[in-house]
Amino acid sequence: MAMTRSRHNLATLPTPVQQAPRLAEALGVAGRLLVKRDDLTGFAVAGNKARPLEYLLAEALGRGADVLVTGGTPGSNFCQAAAAAAAGAGMECVLIYAGPAQRPQHPNHLAARAWGARVEWTGDPDRSSVDTALTDAAAELTAAGRRPYVAPRGGSTARGALGFHQAAAELATQVDGPATVVLATGSGGTTAGLIAGSVALGRRFEIHGASVSRAPEQARGRVLELARGCAELAGTAPPEAADVRLVDARGPGHAQPSTLGAHAAQVALTTMGIVLDPVYTAKALGALPAVLGEQIRDPRLTTIFWHTGGLLDAVAGWEHA
Ligand SMILES: Cc1ncc(COP(=O)(O)O)c(C=O)c1O
Repeated sequence: MAMTRSRHNLATLPTPVQQAPRLAEALGVAGRLLVKRDDLTGFAVAGNKARPLEYLLAEALGRGADVLVTGGTPGSNFCQAAAAAAAGAGMECVLIYAGPAQRPQHPNHLAARAWGARVEWTGDPDRSSVDTALTDAAAELTAAGRRPYVAPRGGSTARGALGFHQAAAELATQVDGPATVVLATGSGGTTAGLIAGSVALGRRFEIHGASVSRAPEQARGRVLELARGCAELAGTAPPEAADVRLVDARGPGHAQPSTLGAHAAQVALTTMGIVLDPVYTAKALGALPAVLGEQIRDPRLTTIFWHTGGLLDAVAGWEHA
């Protein structure tokens, strides 16, 4: 596919797929349960975010950009990973965080600073305050003679989603037959790319997003738009609305631990030694029984939990426990 020419290599791929029989038993899953270990992408502490960054960085470098501008919350895994990717590519990184400056600093914020990012704050805790601030920061940089490349929150663009289109193809080389995939949906790029990639494979995987930051109704249109844009860039068949399957996994709210998630994290740790974070991955695994419904008792079903990383969010959770 043409898209492979526009990658800036960051991740060590393929990430492993592991059998999880003890985790399956603990969750009441009768069929085969596998874990796709995108927490092990092997670049910085990027988890899943190494994949979109390969495409975003390639575009930025192709345009001759010298500064990567992005933002989110101080706990953003994407911001941390973007800072590391920019440093490795010889670019500067400006991160714009929502809200007033915070202490103690989240481990992702500390890591982003360690990679050399310059941090600014919007002063407004509303996450969407970052969006206009990104445009303003880029305009200021341009006026100062710099060449900024702006990545939106979470790096979720159709181009970034190509990383997961490719990840679906990668999964197809590792797992036989049809399977149900469950993962965390935040800004939507990960889910969108996997949907587009699965559609390209004749809908071999049924992708289910556990929406952790928006109500599923709010996230659906955005995921579909990203998935269609991604498929167009990849030159593959367009996803349909029915390909977008989302459940509500917010619990008490974005970045607030949920009871289901806490239980899932405990079970993953004690059955497999796998670390899940309270913001994304724990809530996604916690939603797995709801996604499967009656099918949880079907021994013929293959289910894949897509572990997207979030290690430093897990550490932040331990610090605050
Ligand atoms: C650990 C982790 N998992 C899942 C996601 C969700 O990915 P997306 O924002 O592409 O929906 C994120 C996003 O930041 C994340 O950091």
